[in-house]
Amino acid sequence: MSQIETFAVANWSPAPAAADDQRMIATLEAGKVLLLPRLSFELRSDERRFLDPRWSDRRAKNISYDPASAQIKGAIGNSADLEDLRRLLERFHLSAVGLIKNLFPAYGPQLRIARASFRPLPIAGRASSWRKDDSRLHVDAFPSRPNRGERILRVFANVNPNSVPRVWRVGEPFADLARRFLPKLPRQLPGSAALLNALHITKSPRSAYDHYMLHLHDAMKADLEYQQTAPQETVPFAAGCSWICFSDQTSHAAMSGQHLFEQTLHLPVSGLYDADSSPLRVLEKLSRRKLA
Ligand code: SIN
Ligand code: FE
Repeated sequence: MSQIETFAVANWSPAPAAADDQRMIATLEAGKVLLLPRLSFELRSDERRFLDPRWSDRRAKNISYDPASAQIKGAIGNSADLEDLRRLLERFHLSAVGLIKNLFPAYGPQLRIARASFRPLPIAGRASSWRKDDSRLHVDAFPSRPNRGERILRVFANVNPNSVPRVWRVGEPFADLARRFLPKLPRQLPGSAALLNALHITKSPRSAYDHYMLHLHDAMKADLEYQQTAPQETVPFAAGCSWICFSDQTSHAAMSGQHLFEQTLHLPVSGLYDADSSPLRVLEKLSRRKLA
């Protein structure tokens, strides 16, 4: 069964008729990818010059926009160009947040809006280690920022000007990979969360949930046999389309492509329409204890 479902949304501020669509909510919270082939993030002619790796400072793979400060990071250029680029990221940020608030009205009050990013570098060859290699199937987990079960919701838009798709592999449902890997993951050692926090390796103590999610991320990426034989489908996200998924739940691997916009939003488990579908509740059910 495909982990991709297509919806006809064609506007960044979809009319209320499309909002609160039960099929869309159920699909997203089941961990599938909502593919929106008709939703394009259009660049104006004066913005197309930014579709070029030369704007990246090369220290980070992304140019990012922080909604708290309304500033960008990771870009180089003169101040007039950087201001135009900042406005472009801001416009994507506002579009993507508006889209989520319109499609999933109940999430609105509970959302914590994080960074937007622009990825002007080609995917091929950018990984520096297997752990950072996003062309291996994985679920997203942050090593330094424990989230205690809070969700990672992402909106993506392929803006490639030469019709180059962004190609992902999308793997098995979260409950299947959790059942497969959880018995093999190391237990969290008593005191380790406090120690990592005291050493400032983490920004707050790692919950058991964060411990398991990180080890799940690593165990998936380290297992080359799993990478090849896991249930999966190859999905070419066409230039000019957008997609949405919970990237802490959807097993994904980015194989090729260039020029992507992405917005991250966080949502507490209590903000979901169906909390039982969350990785936190799935892992808690399997391990028969509270993890956060
Ligand atoms: C990822 O989240 O693993 C990468 C997504 C992408 O850059 O297409
Ligand atoms: Fe990822």
